[in-house]
Amino acid sequence: MFFNLQGFLVEKGLKIKKIDHLNLVLMTIRDVGRLLITENDREKLIKGICDILVEKRGYYNAWISLFGNDKKIDLIADSGIEVPFDSIKKNIKHQQFTRCVEHTLFSKNIFVVNDPVKECTQCVLSKKYFNRSALAVRLEYEDKNYGFMVVSIPKELASDNNEKNIVKEISDDIAFGLYRLDLEERRKFTEQDLEQSRIRFETLIENSLNSISIIQNHKIVYENPGIRKIHGLMSKVFEPPEFFDVYLEDRARIKRLYTQLLSNKIRRIETDFRYCPFGKDKADQEIRWALLSATKIDYLGVESVLTNIMDITDSKEVEDFLRIQDKMTSLGRVTAGIAHEIRNPLSGIYIYLKALKKIYNQMGDITKVVSIIDKIELASYKIESIIKRVMDFSKPSQPQFIMTNLNDYIDEVTKLTSVTLRKSGIQFEKYLSPNIPKCFAEPHLIEQVILNLITNAAEAMKEFQGEKLITLKTFKNDNHVVISVRDTGPGIPLARQSKIFDPFYTTKSSSSGIGLSICHRIILDHGGSLKCQPAENGGAKFIIELPLKNKEVESGLI
Ligand SMILES: Nc1ncnc2c1ncn2[C@@H]1O[C@H](COP(=O)(O)OP(=O)(O)OP(=O)(O)O)[C@@H](O)[C@H]1O
Ligand SMILES: [Mg+2]
Repeated sequence: MFFNLQGFLVEKGLKIKKIDHLNLVLMTIRDVGRLLITENDREKLIKGICDILVEKRGYYNAWISLFGNDKKIDLIADSGIEVPFDSIKKNIKHQQFTRCVEHTLFSKNIFVVNDPVKECTQCVLSKKYFNRSALAVRLEYEDKNYGFMVVSIPKELASDNNEKNIVKEISDDIAFGLYRLDLEERRKFTEQDLEQSRIRFETLIENSLNSISIIQNHKIVYENPGIRKIHGLMSKVFEPPEFFDVYLEDRARIKRLYTQLLSNKIRRIETDFRYCPFGKDKADQEIRWALLSATKIDYLGVESVLTNIMDITDSKEVEDFLRIQDKMTSLGRVTAGIAHEIRNPLSGIYIYLKALKKIYNQMGDITKVVSIIDKIELASYKIESIIKRVMDFSKPSQPQFIMTNLNDYIDEVTKLTSVTLRKSGIQFEKYLSPNIPKCFAEPHLIEQVILNLITNAAEAMKEFQGEKLITLKTFKNDNHVVISVRDTGPGIPLARQSKIFDPFYTTKSSSSGIGLSICHRIILDHGGSLKCQPAENGGAKFIIELPLKNKEVESGLI
């Protein structure tokens, strides 16, 4: 048996070559891996990988291109390329790809160009590719194509599946590295966005002139500092559970609303209340007005109440002043009207008294005395009734509003009226919608308005020939309770419509013309409106709209 030295040496040489080859592959993968972890600049990253592939792996050349946000190639790096490469780069940036690159756009698989000299005659690179092959592969991770990589390798390696696997593996690693950079970039943007919105939020809240606070378990856990600059003492205005700074008369109501909010009976509080900024115990306590808006929120995972409070004392004062001024103007007009109105009955009384005196002196016809006294009585009654109504109109009373369903009162007050109307040949119909919500009103004042409107309608139809019908309706319209009174009388000519609400405007010989102005005032005091419209059938129609604008109704629970 002969020892085959030559065969042994050849085999050993092959083994050593294989070990060298494996070492090169391992070092290449290791260096690419290191770069992928440490390099955050895309351009430097792909250039570094090209260099490793050429220097460590021994490829003839390598080039990598990446797509930008507009899906066009925006970066190209290369290593080992021996021919002028600029024209290819330029073409690629204009979406004109080489044959091997085009393949990567449509296929996930590695594309092998065995003999570029013959196969890629158009490509400038192929001139130098004698005895070389080229591999092209896309850089893809989770279905996103980041770009492509092309390497030039010895011809015999191109058919080696292991080598192809290595190229594929490296390309996958590059794509994953690019994905990591994408994530990193997005994280930075999100962080920047978050930081910016935090700063915006802080600037807004901290500098707000309103008092903003967050309450958890009846304790204030956050308070914005801005408010202290203006109203240093406003910070405790809304402090559960006792609300000591809330003015005594408003305290129970505020406590009730707060409890209702906590127990989800209402969705938010929107109300005004009075508070004592210097504490409730001070003898000369100052009372100020605050407007409160409160809702439930989740603050750092805990159920909390967010409050926003504004000091509205100044605007309340202006509002009061305007109301008084308005009343004074009306009062001036009313006084002039009174003088005018009571002058006639007064001079009547004077004349009748003179006549009485004459009869008494002459001891004339005593039977005339009774009729003269009757007339005096009537004239004094008229003066008294005018004065009473004027006083009602001008007295500075604060209506006592209650939360009520007006249907009940309207129904009751019109029962009697309809009988009287029927006796005068007037039909009366009422349609009270069962769906009208409760609203804040003083029911007796609303009754007074309804009666005034019905009386006017009846008076308008007294001499009227034709159908005599008064229709009263209640219904809900958007945020209002609407009450309408319509008649089939002569209606109100357009030119007169602007005057009918003026105090003492009347077209009747024995009336004072104060009814509608009182109605108007009452409805204004309710924050509503009273309007006159021509009715569809030619008569007059009066429409009252009462707002449903208090916090409970807004919260949709009433
Ligand atoms: N339904 C109606 N149809 C036609 N005209 C009306 C109607 N309601 C009011 N008017 C007109 O408006 C005027 C003013 O009404 P208002 O109720 O203020 O005073 P009045 O009824 O004349 O007097 P008072 O109500 O003080 O007894 C009336 O005189 C009348 O001309
Ligand atoms: Mg009237």
